[in-house]
Amino acid sequence: MEKENNALFIIFGGSGDLAKRKLYPALFRLFLSGSLKTNFAVIGTSRREWPDDYYQNIVYMAIKNVGKAGDDVRRKFIKHFFYQANDVTDLNHFQILKKRSQSIADKWQITGAWIYYLAMSPNFFGTIAENLAKSNFLDSNHPNRLVIEKPFGHSLSSAQKLNRSIQKAFSENDIYRIDHYLGKEIVQNILPLRFSNPLIKGIWNQKFISNFQITLAERVGVEQRAGYYEEAGALRDMFQNHIAQLISLLIMDEPASLQTKDLVRSKAQALSNIQELDYKNISNNFVRGQYTVGSGFKGYREEEGVAADSQIETYVAGKLSPLAGPLKGVPIYFRTGKRLKQKVTRIDVVFKESTNNIYQSKTISDIPNVLTILVDPISGFKLNYQSKAIGDRQDLQKFSLRREFNVTERQKMPEAYQRLFHDVLNGDKTNFVQWNQLCASWRITDQVIDCWNKQQIPTDFFYPAGSMGPKAADSLLAKDHHFWVFRG
Ligand code: BG6
Repeated sequence: MEKENNALFIIFGGSGDLAKRKLYPALFRLFLSGSLKTNFAVIGTSRREWPDDYYQNIVYMAIKNVGKAGDDVRRKFIKHFFYQANDVTDLNHFQILKKRSQSIADKWQITGAWIYYLAMSPNFFGTIAENLAKSNFLDSNHPNRLVIEKPFGHSLSSAQKLNRSIQKAFSENDIYRIDHYLGKEIVQNILPLRFSNPLIKGIWNQKFISNFQITLAERVGVEQRAGYYEEAGALRDMFQNHIAQLISLLIMDEPASLQTKDLVRSKAQALSNIQELDYKNISNNFVRGQYTVGSGFKGYREEEGVAADSQIETYVAGKLSPLAGPLKGVPIYFRTGKRLKQKVTRIDVVFKESTNNIYQSKTISDIPNVLTILVDPISGFKLNYQSKAIGDRQDLQKFSLRREFNVTERQKMPEAYQRLFHDVLNGDKTNFVQWNQLCASWRITDQVIDCWNKQQIPTDFFYPAGSMGPKAADSLLAKDHHFWVFRG
């Protein structure tokens, strides 16, 4: 059984989609694991007026099919949920919310942290933080933690503005910026893979690694999120956060220890090692695209809520590389897009070919060694290597060592939000986005967007839904005599 936690959650955006799809199921899984048991309560807020029992029913529906448990367990869980209508711009509402929170905390004998979860429009993040401070939420003697969903800003300057207003109320130490990729099992496995295996640790440098290839391909289109996506686009939606975080994990130096402060320091440093991008560099090394009709799917411009002449990118590929450290100059190629051929999240670490090798004339694979970190939908690792073909001759054959997590193992893996909630409860900030990381990823994102804004959309901007994106993304690697290991 897990250590039991004692906490009050206040969820801003309690009636929203994220709360129903991710947050309530994650809290329920923590309840099933014993991490939340008796002394906890959740207050959901949003503008609309709901009685507690109506809200409890919403939560019940959200957890109805989550985990293995009897109905009595589910009913017991939802009794910890309360609802308070709240207009986040109205200070009076916060005073009412404060009173109610205190009485609920007293009733459930909650002495642990109060966790404020912002799962609503980012326009209100700063206002909520300030109003929490003004209505004396933060004066009490329990820990106060603020959890913030993405997007954290729209650009570096808007992120800085938002951070300034949040920091009027919360110190950096109490701010937990969520990137759900950091909660994924395999993503959490990147550092142990790199640093606990002498074999891998010894070759994780520019002498042996030819390039990294990060693929976050999605089968889904823009879904019902055109309003947000028309403002964001693939670069802000996927690169600025998830891909930037993956890059940090791939290139960061070995931390001095596993303590959060050391991990965080090393991670934060990683992105600042990425080269500055100028106009020429971006023109040569970044590709954007937008899906059009294909494979039975509508084009992006035909989706509901999308402008008929939208120039928003639903695909982006690019190349970056570190300026310093053991991986100096190693290209990191990445690509992500909506409505691609299939859902695949993976990282291919492509190793250099040996220049002096008695088997060179017999090499049958274009790239002899590739280590693949499989994130979704299959999780595991794969290593391609060459070996003697069975028989008398010295011919080579391509093999792969594969370790895929099986169904039972996958069932044991905590879901990303469950793990991140667990970390917040324990005050562990290792798997959250640090402020300087965020600045570094916005710096790169802004540079690319500024350049794109000055350019016409490229002639090969459109790609058919169901393909692997614009052809220009292949040329990006071909220019360096590389190619995508995963071709879809
Ligand atoms: C979210 C993006 O952060 O990540 C979505 O806003 C995207 O557009 C999603 O679909 C992808 O996450 P995952 O875990 O399915 O790869």
